[in-house]
Amino acid sequence: MTHTEEKQQHLSLYLEVCSQNEEPSLPLHTSIALFLLSYCECKSFKVSLVFTKPASSQSLKSQLPDCLDVSHVQLEDIPQLVRGCRLPAVLDESGRLCRAGLAVVLRHIINKTLEADPSRNDVLALLGFKKTCLKACAEVSKWTRLCEIGIPSAVEEYLKNPSNQYQQLPLSILTLERRLAEPVKVHNDDKIRRQKLQEQRRNIKNESPEGNPDSESKRRQSPQVSDGLELRAALAKLSVDSVPTLPTRENSEIRKVKTTDLPPLEHVFAEGLYFTLTDVVLLPCVYHYLCSLQAHAASSLQQLPHLLRWYSRVQEVPGVLRASKACGMAFSTPEVPTSCLPAPSEEDNPPGLLEQEEGPEKSPQLPFVGGPRPTMTKLKENGIEAVFAPHPCPAWTLPWDSLPGAINPTEGKMSNIRAVRKRQQLNNLVAVVTELARPGFTIVDFCSGTGHVGIVLAHTLPDCQVLLIENKEESLVRAQSRSAELGLKNIGFIQANLDYFTGAFHIGVALHACGVATDMVMDHCIHAGATFVISPCCYGFIQNAIKFTFPRSKRFQETLTYKEHMILCRFADQTAVQLPPERRLIGKQCMGLVDLDRSWAAETHGYSLRVMTMEPESCSPKNNMLVGRPPHKRGLEVGASHQEVLVHN
Ligand SMILES: *[C@@H]1O[C@H](CO)[C@@H](O)[C@H](O)[C@H]1NC(C)=O
Repeated sequence: MTHTEEKQQHLSLYLEVCSQNEEPSLPLHTSIALFLLSYCECKSFKVSLVFTKPASSQSLKSQLPDCLDVSHVQLEDIPQLVRGCRLPAVLDESGRLCRAGLAVVLRHIINKTLEADPSRNDVLALLGFKKTCLKACAEVSKWTRLCEIGIPSAVEEYLKNPSNQYQQLPLSILTLERRLAEPVKVHNDDKIRRQKLQEQRRNIKNESPEGNPDSESKRRQSPQVSDGLELRAALAKLSVDSVPTLPTRENSEIRKVKTTDLPPLEHVFAEGLYFTLTDVVLLPCVYHYLCSLQAHAASSLQQLPHLLRWYSRVQEVPGVLRASKACGMAFSTPEVPTSCLPAPSEEDNPPGLLEQEEGPEKSPQLPFVGGPRPTMTKLKENGIEAVFAPHPCPAWTLPWDSLPGAINPTEGKMSNIRAVRKRQQLNNLVAVVTELARPGFTIVDFCSGTGHVGIVLAHTLPDCQVLLIENKEESLVRAQSRSAELGLKNIGFIQANLDYFTGAFHIGVALHACGVATDMVMDHCIHAGATFVISPCCYGFIQNAIKFTFPRSKRFQETLTYKEHMILCRFADQTAVQLPPERRLIGKQCMGLVDLDRSWAAETHGYSLRVMTMEPESCSPKNNMLVGRPPHKRGLEVGASHQEVLVHN
């Protein structure tokens, strides 16, 4: 690893350029980032377009907003920390903190725009209610996954071969279409719904009695009226004073209507009523998709009435047209005769695809019938019992009293007893990692939080590079300032989902990785051929996830159903000190069994696994530690077999 990190004085935003048939082109996530920068009129970043091979960028010029400071670099010339991440990515002024992945980077652009100009209410509004828009990571939220990954990749895929006439509309586009057809629920929507009711009643009164309006025209009219109200409410949110200028007087009759009897609100923008970051993500995708569909299969547009409505509403948002133009997107209204647009009706709202696709996120908690004993007995009858390997160095401890204050967990806000326990947990992880590490190793602290593990490791192992990966910005920023206080040089920080980290490393560490996070870290390490030292946590949160199902190993699968395995997971959480000792003992056995299943799954990749108990046992109710070593790197054993080779030759 290079030590020639120069201090940079600005924020660098790295955006990918891909090349198709020798011509450079911008992938959608790059277009989306450029569009947001343009919408925000953000000048806080130095933008680098990253080319994988030398090419002229002339053809890209029209897609690059003039207001931006854009330069070109070759992939091999970008800083090491950034090269270990999928783009887009931002490197901060210190050169040590990299933010990677579309949602993370976009939220950061918004943050920096607001720091430069706090009066930008329209930009603040992009973060949505409670500022959580696209914050939940794609591994956890199906909605983030659809918008951040599903739709951009479906559109990229489609654009590769748009003239294929047998092509179906991509599932993720149809999912969005159905989502847009659903009524919305927004925080505090009572007032808007009463206004809608009032407008509807007024509208009915105004209909001339002799006109005998047929149901068809009624059907078409009422959505338009409500559309106006909802769009007005949404746009008012973006105005400078952000106070809706809607009439607030309600007659008493309207006021008396029960909330449950109020009309539902229609979807205006992607997240519901208001224009948010999600719409910003979707806009370049939908733009390119619709342009192409118009050219190659215009009749398909009829299947997307809600998406087309969304598309025309988005263009009414102030600033959107200007920003689009700067990015070379020239809107035109797709030519679908309006008579083809069915008004939203009940039939348009089939049970949402999203619900069906929901999968792991919202699967109901399985009811407990009885305790874990039948499951444990079943395993035992099949010769499966929890095994705990002996701890290699139970008495090992860091010299806490002589370590700098900022390393010591007592320096934080933690109460005394918690700090003592945290130090004991750290002793265990650091002991094992120290035994496995060699000079020059890169060690990754996954789910690093505020950096308790990673910072101790960087201090203890100055010949190794330590990377902290964490999704929560606040935690990582605190870790960074603690590390700066200590003057650590061998440390880097990545704010990203696991998936966006692609760099090579030798040892992966995670202390109390919640639920399936343990499995994600294990899989990431196995994929990278790295050793891992993981202390799992929150077994009760374990459930089938996007990338794996439980039980994970063949032997467990042959013995237990998913439901039976989930019983083990639920009871594995029952190890708290307040519980009766026999319950805790069962809890510990269940923990051991869940981790045994994980170990066996890892062993199919040639790994050797040890499940052990941290010392002292009381350091945490979740005191299991999994150590997995890849087939070809067994530390001391490598030395041994190496000697053998020498002897035999
Ligand atoms: C930007 O991010 C920093 C660091 O997490 C945070 O402290 C700050 O409040 C954010 N600023 C805005 C305007 O959201």
